[in-house]
Amino acid sequence: MIIKSTNMIRKYFSGVFVLGSFVLILSACGKKDSNSPGVEFMPDMYRSPSVEVYNINPMYADSMGSRLPVAGTIPRGFMPYPYSNDTAGYATAGRELKNPIALTSEVLKEGEELYGKFCVNCHGASGGGDGLVSTKLPGAPPAYSGALKNLPEGKIFHTMTFGKGLMGSHASQLTQEERWKLVHYVQKLQHINDAPAADSTKTAMAKSAEENKKK
Ligand code: HEC
Repeated sequence: MIIKSTNMIRKYFSGVFVLGSFVLILSACGKKDSNSPGVEFMPDMYRSPSVEVYNINPMYADSMGSRLPVAGTIPRGFMPYPYSNDTAGYATAGRELKNPIALTSEVLKEGEELYGKFCVNCHGASGGGDGLVSTKLPGAPPAYSGALKNLPEGKIFHTMTFGKGLMGSHASQLTQEERWKLVHYVQKLQHINDAPAADSTKTAMAKSAEENKKK
């Protein structure tokens, strides 16, 4: 008798369960809006009130969620380059632009390393314009210690930044700091054939860098 009634209760509950499941399944589908997710458990977890990236932001008149940087914003560590990529910019850079990096033997060594990676192929080890690539060029680069001996540092930097003639811009490969270090090294090469009597601070520094290299 007891077992029989338990069976009945079981049957009753399984009936209710089956019916309930049907109701649930039916209520889950057949919604008019096909994009509706149905019943959501804790919807504020999926739909947070914060403004999502690249989404609409009603706080702004143009409702653009992603804002443009304030006019004049520059990336951290970036120095704007005010000289234009033309002959006037080249001339002004040559007159005004000064190397912000002081010459030390470390700077010269870094310049030499960079020169070995980016410039030696065309300009040659001593800057004579006799690099391996220069033989393939319609016009070899002039020697630093020859035609370019008195080229001001601003023009050296400007040429590395924008390129000149057959030489391409090196602005994407070299940071401004690296370009200025290279300027020091190019200046060393401009005076590579100078007599030791013409001892300026720069050639003295270059000499001590050379001595360091030998050690
Ligand atoms: C693809 C070969 C090539 C490479 C690489 C190259 N140069 Fe040049 N460079 C040239 C040529 C060619 C010229 C002559 C451009 C002209 O006056 O028309 C030149 C000119 C120059 C000048 C003289 C610019 C002037 O104002 O007259 C400097 C300084 C110079 N290069 C420095 C460098 C440095 C530093 C690097 C390495 C970062 C470098 N170049 C890499 C080919 C190259």
